[in-house]
Formats: sequence, C-alpha cells, structure tokens
Amino acid sequence: MRRGSIAIAGVGKEFGPATVLNEVDLAIEGGSFVTLLGPSGCGKTTLLRLIAGFLEPSRGAIAIDGAAMQGVPPRRRPIGMVFQNLALFPHLDVFDNVAYGLRVRGTPAADIAGPVSRFLGLVGLAGFERRRIGQLSGGQKQRVALARSLVLEPAILLLDEPLSALDLQLRRQLQVELKSIQRQLATTFVFVTHDQEEATLLSDTIVVMDGGRVQQVGTPGEIYRRPASPFVARFVGDINMLPGRIVSIDAASAEIEIGGSHLRLPLTAVIGKARAGASCNVACRPESIAVQPSSGAGTGTTFAARVVALHRLGPMLKVTFDTVHGPLTGLMMANAPTAGLAENQSAQLSFAADSLTVFANP
Ligand SMILES: Nc1ncnc2c1ncn2[C@@H]1O[C@H](COP(=O)(O)OP(=O)(O)O)[C@@H](O)[C@H]1O
Ligand SMILES: [Mg+2]
Repeated sequence: MRRGSIAIAGVGKEFGPATVLNEVDLAIEGGSFVTLLGPSGCGKTTLLRLIAGFLEPSRGAIAIDGAAMQGVPPRRRPIGMVFQNLALFPHLDVFDNVAYGLRVRGTPAADIAGPVSRFLGLVGLAGFERRRIGQLSGGQKQRVALARSLVLEPAILLLDEPLSALDLQLRRQLQVELKSIQRQLATTFVFVTHDQEEATLLSDTIVVMDGGRVQQVGTPGEIYRRPASPFVARFVGDINMLPGRIVSIDAASAEIEIGGSHLRLPLTAVIGKARAGASCNVACRPESIAVQPSSGAGTGTTFAARVVALHRLGPMLKVTFDTVHGPLTGLMMANAPTAGLAENQSAQLSFAADSLTVFANP
C-alpha cells in the first residue's frame, strides 16, 4: 500500500452547541488526489484541520497509514499544508522561505541547497532563489508556498482553496501544474474547493459535502453521471430536474412517465425506494437532451417544447425551452444538424435514457 492513506471513521465535530461535522466516514487512498467539494460553511476546512491535528474530533477517529492520530500534535503528523493566504516570510527571499522548514528540522547546511533547488524546479521557480517575496506575483507566491511544504516530503499535503484568489487564466494553469506535481511525487493531496469544475479537473476522487455531511464519494465521472442525491446533481454541473411518476417496476427496470412521455430505465438509475405510483424527480443533463424541430404535442417517448432563448457558448449551443414542466436547458454541438433552431419554434425533445437519474420521493 502506498504511504499517505487516511482513514476517517465516524468523525463528528461540535463547536459549542453547533454540530459542524456529522458521522464522516472516509477512506483516502495513499498517493491519490482527493478533493473535498461543497458550498461555503459545509465543513471542509474543519475536516482538513482535524486531519492536520489543529482540532480534535468530538467523536470518532482518524488514522494515517494505520496509526491512530488521537493526541498526536500537528508537527508529529506526516502532513504539509498550503492555504489561500499562506503567510510567507516577507523578510526572507525565495530560497530561504523554502529552506526554512529544513533548517527548523536541523537538516545539515550541506543538505539544504539540493532539495530546495529540486522543489523550486518542480514548481517552475528555478532562477528565482534570490527574489524577495514582495517582488513576486500572486501565482509565484503560491508556487513558493507549495515548494515550502513539499520540500519536507510529507506523505500528505492538505490544500485549502489555494487557487481561489487567483484570476481564472492563472488558476487554470496552476491546476494543470498541481495535478502534474501530484502525479510525479505520488504524495496524497487533499484539496479543498467550492468550484466543481476545479474538482472535476484535478481529482481522482471527489468527496461532495453539504451541511457537515459527506453526500457522495466517487470519481468525477461517477458523481456527474450518477449523483447520489438532488443536492449533488445540482451542485456538480448543470442539470434539469423534471417532476415525474414511477409507473411500474419489474426485477431490472422501472417505467417512468414525464409529462406524458414514457421511458424505461434500469433500476440502477433509480435512487431511493422505487415504488409503483410514487412521484419522482428525473435529473437530466443538458447534453443528454436530443432535439427535433417540429410542431404538435409530444407523443410516446418525446416531449413537446418551445424554444425560448439560444446562446452560443464556443462550439456549443445552449437552448432554453419552455415545457409543461417549466424551463429546461439543452446543450448541443453548434454544428449539429438540428442546431438551426430559432426562438419561438416548437420542438420535440427526447432523452438519452441511460443518462438519466431518477430520485424517487418517499
Ligand atoms: N472555531 C470555530 N468556532 C465556531 N464555529 C466554527 C469554527 N470554525 C468553523 N465554524 C463553523 O463551522 C462551519 C463550517 O466551517 P468551515 O469548516 O470553515 O466550512 P467551509 O470550509 O466548508 O467553508 C461554519 O458554519 C463555521 O461558521
Ligand atoms: Mg473553508
């Protein structure tokens, strides 16, 4: 097993009367890139601080590489941290900032220059050794912070929204570099963000959190294709939610009715207790809607709609439809044969059945 594994079992955290984390169970594989994703206030930073040892859990236990962490202070844990507003030492130059931790550790002077230049190279700052911190851009400071943590070769690096303060272009560039650095070192990265695109781009595993609870753990693809709850479906990517009804169920599939059109879906697409007659919400990604220009009402497996607005997004066309269920968004290639839609035109919509998720109402 690779080093840097984390086992979180039944962890809860209270601040006074407020419960901030609830029953968190999470197994993080050594060497993986894991992202905690969720809205502001959902408990992401608190969970990182518990892993780091700045806080102790109110309940439950955390182990790193099989060793219980209860009572182990942060400096004795095999962990490094990078934050959005990491305070670098402004009176030291880049080299001395990165060398700082090695010196504190008592590393002999002769063994410092090698690792410092290796990690400055890794973060793209070779040649910046004698720059002062005040002479660096925001992105360069974040690279110094990363090198300063990585030079200590922690088994686990915790990163709390390290890119949130940077502009989009720089952020995109650093995302690519961060992922490549993580791959080269095989250090476990536990990364926090509220940006689902960032999480999707970077992660082997995404942990979606809301209200102090883990809502879903999975690969970016699993979370996008098979969200475990309406919250996850809405938080990760654009989605349409259509009210429907479960008509019938057999051993392997369910028949669903949405606005008069009928679909047969595998039972694995139904989340919650599938019961004939129950109402449900059908989650449908914009790109899984197929459009046929036409007039008249929907029949069979199609669904009547009217085009309300068209927006071009680079190579894609985003279409807002009005339907009996209210507005619905479709996304298609702008060069698709059916892309010649116009405002106010009637259309027939159909869904790629294998792309739908059904949330059965209790
Ligand atoms: N030291 C603290 N004392 C009291 N409440 C706190 C403390 N730290 C965080 N909280 C509360 O815990 C909740 C989760 O905070 P946090 O973990 O920072 O969320 P996130 O990082 O997901 O935005 C918030 O409601 C926050 O106000
Ligand atoms: Mg936070």
